[in-house]
Amino acid sequence: MDCKITLIPGDGIGPEIVREAKKVLDRIAEKYGHKFDYTKILMGGCSIDEYGVPLTDEAVAIAKASDAVLLGAVGGNVGNSKWYDVAPNLRPEAGLLKIRKELELFANIRPAYLYKELQDACPLKPEIIGDGFDMVIMRELTGGLYFGKRHTEEVDGVMTATDTLTYNEDEIRRIAIKGFEIAMKRRKKVTSVDKANVLDSSRLWRKVVKEVAADYPEVEVTDMLVDNCAMQLVMNPGQFDVILTENMFGDILSDEASMITGSIGMLSSASLGKTKLGLYEPSHGSAPDIAGKDIANPIATILSAAMMLRYSFDLDKEADAIEAAVAQVLKEGYRTVDIMSEGMTQCSTTKMGDLIAERV
Ligand code: IPM
Ligand code: MG
Repeated sequence: MDCKITLIPGDGIGPEIVREAKKVLDRIAEKYGHKFDYTKILMGGCSIDEYGVPLTDEAVAIAKASDAVLLGAVGGNVGNSKWYDVAPNLRPEAGLLKIRKELELFANIRPAYLYKELQDACPLKPEIIGDGFDMVIMRELTGGLYFGKRHTEEVDGVMTATDTLTYNEDEIRRIAIKGFEIAMKRRKKVTSVDKANVLDSSRLWRKVVKEVAADYPEVEVTDMLVDNCAMQLVMNPGQFDVILTENMFGDILSDEASMITGSIGMLSSASLGKTKLGLYEPSHGSAPDIAGKDIANPIATILSAAMMLRYSFDLDKEADAIEAAVAQVLKEGYRTVDIMSEGMTQCSTTKMGDLIAERV
């Protein structure tokens, strides 16, 4: 199979982890007889340095013309970076929001499961971990607060900032359908998360999710308020299968869900729309404090590459091979520093990539 892949190394640890994911993909291509053509584009702070904007239209066009996009991470330290004393639409993260919108990637899938080998890294008590957990957060990605109108102005001499949270029923319906579809392939449980005791957008969310649920009688659906969900994640994570939620709630809950797996460095994500073109990225950020030290965990990006093979190219066998190689390396006791524990063998970013590629 011939596939055109856009690579976005981005900022911070992005270039290191994307390099390792490409190493694993190259091994897959060699072993299974595929041809992956890569085109690199700039996004985030590196694009600001080069072009003055976080993502150029030319770069978007390249991404649109490819079969899939693999991203490392974008952004620097908010607060002390030269990239942040500018309007919000010129900051590194705006590049990410722009590519999601331009590619119409409204559905963000973030799996969070606990590897048996990493139970020691899980911050929860053994009695809470129980038999472990395996959930997917289905986050709406192109609506809500992140894309609503915003402005800052002086009102009666007082600085006032406004963000707007808008959803229409079509936006809710299409993400709900994705959530139920994925639940059908899993344990058939959807927890729809909102703040319907306060927000109008959440009340519409609940109504539309209920309508969609009628088409999936086999799926058990529960509504849960977002504050309760944040608590349930650390009290009884095993109860969740698919968490279906809007953009900002999903942003926050997915960091929480990933952290209880032991390390945010393990979790992949896929952003999908109506077509096969998807964007795949680790759930974690650019970790500027450890950039360039060859200590970052590349596993989340490598697993994101596996999701790319599965969802954009339908290469399930190849995706399985990557996932099995990751599990094997963990079983053999190799760990990057973020998931290191006693008796294990610590390894660098590069070494981890080598080990996984070798076991593919
Ligand atoms: C994420 C990130 C982004 C988001 C930021 C960088 C804009 O936190 O992918 O979760 O909030 O979507
Ligand atoms: Mg986030």
